[in-house]
Amino acid sequence: MKKKYLISVIPGDGIGPEVIREGVKVIEAAAEKCGFDIAFDYYDLGGAHYLKTGELLEDNVLDSISKSDAIYLGAIGTPDVKPGILEKNILLKLRFYFDQYINLRPVALYEGVSTPLKEKGPADIDFVVIRENTEGLYTGAGGFFKKGTKDEVAIQESINTRKGVERCVRHAFEYCRKRNKGNKLTLCGKTNVLTYAFDLWERTFYDVATEFPDIETDYMHVDAACMWMVKNPEIFDVIVTDNMFGDIITDLAAIIQGGMGVAAGGNINPEGISMFEPIGGSAPKYAGKQLANPVAAILAGGMMLEELGEHDAAALIEAAVIKALSQDFKGTGAGKMGLSTSDAGDMIAKYAMQQMEKI
Ligand code: IPM
Ligand code: MN
Repeated sequence: MKKKYLISVIPGDGIGPEVIREGVKVIEAAAEKCGFDIAFDYYDLGGAHYLKTGELLEDNVLDSISKSDAIYLGAIGTPDVKPGILEKNILLKLRFYFDQYINLRPVALYEGVSTPLKEKGPADIDFVVIRENTEGLYTGAGGFFKKGTKDEVAIQESINTRKGVERCVRHAFEYCRKRNKGNKLTLCGKTNVLTYAFDLWERTFYDVATEFPDIETDYMHVDAACMWMVKNPEIFDVIVTDNMFGDIITDLAAIIQGGMGVAAGGNINPEGISMFEPIGGSAPKYAGKQLANPVAAILAGGMMLEELGEHDAAALIEAAVIKALSQDFKGTGAGKMGLSTSDAGDMIAKYAMQQMEKI
């Protein structure tokens, strides 16, 4: 019997709907080629929906999404809504509700894509960041005291639990073993200043490392990691880090792989429902103009199929993207592709249909 998947799609704001449309196109092509069924349930969520209805993410919507196999997200955010509201009540709420404790960010510079790093090429930029995705500074713990007075105090606490750190670190070791490239896992932290949080991280890291004698371990302070990522990105294989540091270093990582137009990410609950997204955001100034690069959304779709166990379909999509980037794209930035968003999607879908024989 044919396998069948149900995907919850949240196109969201700005360029989200345009790039997700291309992602769905490519996913459908890969599904047809690989012989499984895939259905999409669309949810109108995000800034525009909030401004219209006052609704963010209701319980009945979460219940309904819970019945699907994965979530495919475009982007959430509009300049008309104050920062924090949509992030906290939609994006972070989804991550926390579905306990997507891994934020997976592959960083690969594909052939034909230009990087701002002088003298570095595809052989040098090929690593993965695994960011803890449900704890740290993102829990919202803290508060104000005497807000608005001259004695005001603001506290924002970083919550790190042994359980949360350990499951993330173990996943990173397992991922590194499965990737089988450099077989090296780097813990990125700040043990010289954050002497509680990263003491826990460091102890957990070396405890779990004893279960993985085949994986080389390394430690780097986050500031140094930023420097090395620019100077010698080839030293990295897999990096594991906390939520806040992971957020920051993955934007740096995105730009060295060719920018937001090609950077995809997964919010993963290995035992539950995961969510995949291009990491670039809603980019309102490009919305509706067919200028946005759909590659990040398409690669996020590929990551989703990989997580669902459809390895051939995922490989097919990556191969199709590589072919299009190296042969047809003039650039990767918005408006710089030499193609419209939908032409780029059509081309990659066509290549996906042609690729199968080679896998
Ligand atoms: C990301 C984003 C989010 C984050 C924002 C939009 C809340 O920057 O996915 O990296 O900080 O996690
Ligand atoms: Mn970010």
